[in-house]
Amino acid sequence: ETARVAFTLNGEPCDLTLDTRTTLLDALREHLHLTGTKKGCDQGQCGACTVIVNGARINACLSLAIMHEGDTVTTIEGLGTPEDLHPMQAAFVKHDGYQCGYCTPGQICSAVSVLQEIAAGVPSHVTGDLTAAMEPSNLEMRERMSGNICRCGAYSNIAQAMAEAAA
Ligand code: FES
Repeated sequence: ETARVAFTLNGEPCDLTLDTRTTLLDALREHLHLTGTKKGCDQGQCGACTVIVNGARINACLSLAIMHEGDTVTTIEGLGTPEDLHPMQAAFVKHDGYQCGYCTPGQICSAVSVLQEIAAGVPSHVTGDLTAAMEPSNLEMRERMSGNICRCGAYSNIAQAMAEAAA
């Protein structure tokens, strides 16, 4: 069964007719050819597919495209351009917040949302002894980013980039 869905994508109107079972991730990558958003696990565990919908981050692999009628969707392609990087992108470049880069679009979309969550007063859930040696702000950034996995282990640099972007 197919259905039609219309939403705003990176500031532009977008109108699609697709199989009702198509995830937002597959709609972005396969139908709209926006391949900046990555597919890692396709089951909500890695964060590579993170996009921003109506101002909040979601895993695009866990969401059906047809659920997004009227929504405002922002992907990594909508945050900045090579000539005019978003401040978070520039901070990731400056602090080497990546190695292979596969998780980076999701990391950056998530990081942008995290700063908005902090500004909006959304609480974090920092607990435990493992992280006790870290600075509280660093600890909070890491906890908030814990849904975005990086196999290269760029976590420290990502936290540094976020701290700079937040300053
Ligand atoms: Fe969506 Fe891994 S691809 S969380």
